[in-house]
Amino acid sequence: MIRTFGPGRVNLIGEHTDYNGGLALPFAIDRGVTVEAEPLEGDTIHAEALDLGERDAFALHDPPPAEGWRAFVRGTAAELAALGVPLRAARLSFSGDVPRGSGLSSSAALEAALCLALLAVAGAEEPDRTELAKLCSRVENDHVGARTGLLDQLAVLCGEDGRALRIDFRDLSMRPVPLELGDWALVTVDSGAAHEHAGGGYNERRAECAAACEALAIESLRDATAAGAGDLPDPLARRVRHVLTENERVDAMAAALAAGDLEQAGRLLDASHASLRDDYEASVPEVERTVAALEHAGAAGARMVGGGFGGSVLALFPPGARPPDGATSVAPGPAARRL
Ligand code: GLA
Repeated sequence: MIRTFGPGRVNLIGEHTDYNGGLALPFAIDRGVTVEAEPLEGDTIHAEALDLGERDAFALHDPPPAEGWRAFVRGTAAELAALGVPLRAARLSFSGDVPRGSGLSSSAALEAALCLALLAVAGAEEPDRTELAKLCSRVENDHVGARTGLLDQLAVLCGEDGRALRIDFRDLSMRPVPLELGDWALVTVDSGAAHEHAGGGYNERRAECAAACEALAIESLRDATAAGAGDLPDPLARRVRHVLTENERVDAMAAALAAGDLEQAGRLLDASHASLRDDYEASVPEVERTVAALEHAGAAGARMVGGGFGGSVLALFPPGARPPDGATSVAPGPAARRL
């Protein structure tokens, strides 16, 4: 039996920057999706989502499109085949402990674990991890219909134990940043409002960023300037301002961590949240209530993580403060792997 694991991820800071050629600082976590795979004769892939009690079966070659979780499985098979991987029939089953829609990237966890499982069944060599991340991202973009960037897939496939990953999306260069918290604690709390990137605000924000690029005659918002952005009509000016200030906060966070200045790290989380709420307008009332509860409990900083419009809140607690019930500790763990 082949078993693979794809972790979820937490993005410490750098939100909605990936598809704008910007900076982010995510890490893989120890919760995620586990896939069990067993080779079969024939040319059909049988898949079972154990948590949902649902099944699928599809032709190995040219699987027809589908909706929901089936689109992830079929899309992964189709993209691996397109890369020239000699896929084999298999029975796949999977389950996870990252709630779907919680902003901790259950999607990338599933894509990565499925990829590694299908590669192992095929006896094929693993492509370079950055290429694999791009493949997983195509599954999401072209098969699931969520125009997400590469943040989640790179975090999940390239993350390192004990370290966050500073990613520069202009050239996909990555630099590990040690996350040494001492007696401080990073926790996530689910706001209870689930999101789905294939619909809703996420794709709308991407379209606004593309419109801003067009108006500024630049390739990516990484090349925007505060002065140029100021001339754009509302809300485009605020969207660009978020991206520009968020990129700055990523490097400020890396510097704060290197200096062991966790008070400053907390202030940066707060500033990121304010920018996501006011300039990017990616928050919802449930998320605001969760942030307020965390601050009331003594957090040094708290912010929404992931695509927004629901999902989880990340908070940093100083020594002695007690995170509220329902908070889960998070720390950087290893990348997706065969178990
Ligand atoms: C989701 C997407 C990522 C990224 C974040 C926002 O998690 O999958 O590509 O855009 O939202 O930072």
